Amino acid sequence: MNIGLSTFYLLGLLVYLSINTKAQERPIFGHSPVQQLIDAMTNEEKSLMVTGAKRRGVIPTALPGQQQKNIEGVGGYTYPFVDLGIPSIMLSDGPAGLRIAPRRYGDSSHYYCTAFPVANLLASSWDLQLAEAVGKAMGQEALAYGVDILLAPALNIHRNPLGGRNFEYYSEDPLLSGKMAAAAIKGIQSQGVGTSIKHFAANNQETNRRTINTIISERALREIYLKGFEIAVKEGKPWTVMSSYNKINGIHTSQNVELLENLLRKEWGFDGFVMSDWYGGDDPIKQMKAGNDLLMPGLATWSNSIDSALNTGSLATEVVDRNIRRILSIVQRTPTFKNRPVSNQPNLKQHAELARKAAASSMVLLKNENTTLPLDKTQKVAVFGNYSYKLIVGGTGSGMVNNAYSVSLADGLVAAGYPLDQDLANRYHNYLALGERKIDKSDSLITAMPKLDSVLNELQLGKKIIQEKAASCDVALISLMRVFGEGGDRKQTDFYLTNAEEELIKQVSTSFRKKGKKVVVVLNIGGVIETASWRDQVDAILLAWHPGQEGGHAMADIISGRINPSGKLTTSFPLRYENVPTAKNFPGTPADNPLKVLYEEGIYIGYRYYDSYNRKTAYPFGYGLSYTRFSYKEPILSTKVFRDNLNLSISIQNDGPVAGREVVQVYLRAPGLSMHKPSKELKAFAKTGTLTPGAMERMDFQIDPLLLASFNSKKSAWEVEAGTYELYISSSSSHIKKKVSFNVPKGMLVKKVEKLLAPPEEINEWTGR
Ligand code: BGC
Repeated sequence: MNIGLSTFYLLGLLVYLSINTKAQERPIFGHSPVQQLIDAMTNEEKSLMVTGAKRRGVIPTALPGQQQKNIEGVGGYTYPFVDLGIPSIMLSDGPAGLRIAPRRYGDSSHYYCTAFPVANLLASSWDLQLAEAVGKAMGQEALAYGVDILLAPALNIHRNPLGGRNFEYYSEDPLLSGKMAAAAIKGIQSQGVGTSIKHFAANNQETNRRTINTIISERALREIYLKGFEIAVKEGKPWTVMSSYNKINGIHTSQNVELLENLLRKEWGFDGFVMSDWYGGDDPIKQMKAGNDLLMPGLATWSNSIDSALNTGSLATEVVDRNIRRILSIVQRTPTFKNRPVSNQPNLKQHAELARKAAASSMVLLKNENTTLPLDKTQKVAVFGNYSYKLIVGGTGSGMVNNAYSVSLADGLVAAGYPLDQDLANRYHNYLALGERKIDKSDSLITAMPKLDSVLNELQLGKKIIQEKAASCDVALISLMRVFGEGGDRKQTDFYLTNAEEELIKQVSTSFRKKGKKVVVVLNIGGVIETASWRDQVDAILLAWHPGQEGGHAMADIISGRINPSGKLTTSFPLRYENVPTAKNFPGTPADNPLKVLYEEGIYIGYRYYDSYNRKTAYPFGYGLSYTRFSYKEPILSTKVFRDNLNLSISIQNDGPVAGREVVQVYLRAPGLSMHKPSKELKAFAKTGTLTPGAMERMDFQIDPLLLASFNSKKSAWEVEAGTYELYISSSSSHIKKKVSFNVPKGMLVKKVEKLLAPPEEINEWTGR
């Protein structure tokens, strides 16, 4: 018997059993062996167990004696079989915090959740402990509201700056993505709720996301697009995995047995269940066979076709039984099955403090000429830009959170004690109110924000007013924003500033600089934009991404110097869109309605490309400024001759005037003789604690053979070539502080694997430097 079942539940069950004679004959989940339970199910019941219940209007009925859950707005739930003792389990988004509806029919209470910083911001902290702490808080909210599995974290690679969901994903680098995801999983699951890492795999665009055929080489898959998932599965042990919408090399991921069975389970040891993305794939039978155990959100047509395939024998009973076994192995771990109480009282106050700390610890200071920042609190600030007065909290779509409130940049500055120009504030508030009246209130969450964006251009203040502000204020702040969201990629033109934005920067910069005053830009954006053409006109740039509900406070924390910035870019900022390695093949061909996208750039994504092909960036991967300075002492290697492991240690000292934290990045340069290799790749990283001026910390990094290896698709093996390797201990991918080298005397075959997921056609891939 499951010890998690309460006495209350047992009593209820006994009463239920005594009045239901038919049920008496049926085994009960948690009491009888799972196989007995499965054997007792009809084919129809089996087909319902493997397809979600929400879209059929089925109520997630509680087991006898258990609390009936009444959560509005969950993403989906599984089918309940009360007479078998199998409850519905609740699955809900998402990566920036729990998404449920804040109101319930006939109920005056509010059910708000905390909007945490989005993934690309959180990852910019490079702080795994922080990611775990945020995960723990999200898990606590899920538990408090009765959700069993949080549909997070999301960890696809930023392949192109226009990718609509880049804000939900961590980075262009798989190691950083995988480590962040593993930390988030550990945090969330520490609360006894599950995770669903998504979208597995190679879901790097939103254009035609349900049908696009992604053609990728085995090497790029293994080293870039699967690597993060591999780390997350092995280190984080998520309860579930969500397959993606796209095809990989001709086959929908949810219908791909090589991906879900051979790789995920056999090779990586995943032991939970796989669910489809909502309405993903096009053949329920193939999905069952491929090991996509649960089809979400569940349609009657899917269960009917599974039921009849079981009846005719075209789908083997063993396949569906296997899938059910996997689902039930997770169901029995859930809060619902264990009858854990629903408090409806997450610690929103404490989590708001954490959201603020997380955002401030992650924001990236891109530019700070002549120590423009921090700003003295006696300075009168002229705050420009519509969205300085209305924060873009997060991206749109399933990654949104229904938070109780949000703090704008202007609110944050006022709370921090800065005097703002009130006339300017009033003008912007009136203008925003005008825009809000124009948008349709019935708009879904997915479209509401971009709508406001589309009805509101930047407020045209006119030269005269800007000149007046330059005379009466001490400094100018300008916010720029871009909403990113699920279901569509951004356009190439969105990468550049609009004419109105350019004009605003130009006019404010001219007027303020004429008076010897400074201009600061705050970027409240969901993905990378162009900065090189306008950055000389401003003195400081703070990248806040979509910072969560406490964003304005966190921005003010950095602007005031209450927090010393320590975030570093997790994705490169290219000079121009044409410089992006995927500019020519994103989002695929034919251009007007892409069917297929060819990843010709292979492994040369992000800094791997810019560095290997000598392309300058506006801001490189790993870059970010601080209000203090750090020195890197002489590194020590445990050996100069690599056999099976190596330890690198280095001490970092704060040589500057204020306390701060440094992200130390270790890149590897491989000989690249027998295979082409990027000029450097991130292999390890760590963040110091808070170092007071003069303080020093020693950091240790382990390098194992797999970190040196590349994937040789001819042999289906991870191989290390012989030769001289260099480790670059760096403060960004372009700022190398120390170099050490070691030798691998003999080539090594680190791991041989099964040949999987080969592309249907030969890809003419790039071969690097
Ligand atoms: C999204 C998933 C999400 C699911 C449930 C899908 O459209 O792609 O990320 O978890 O909806 O809301």
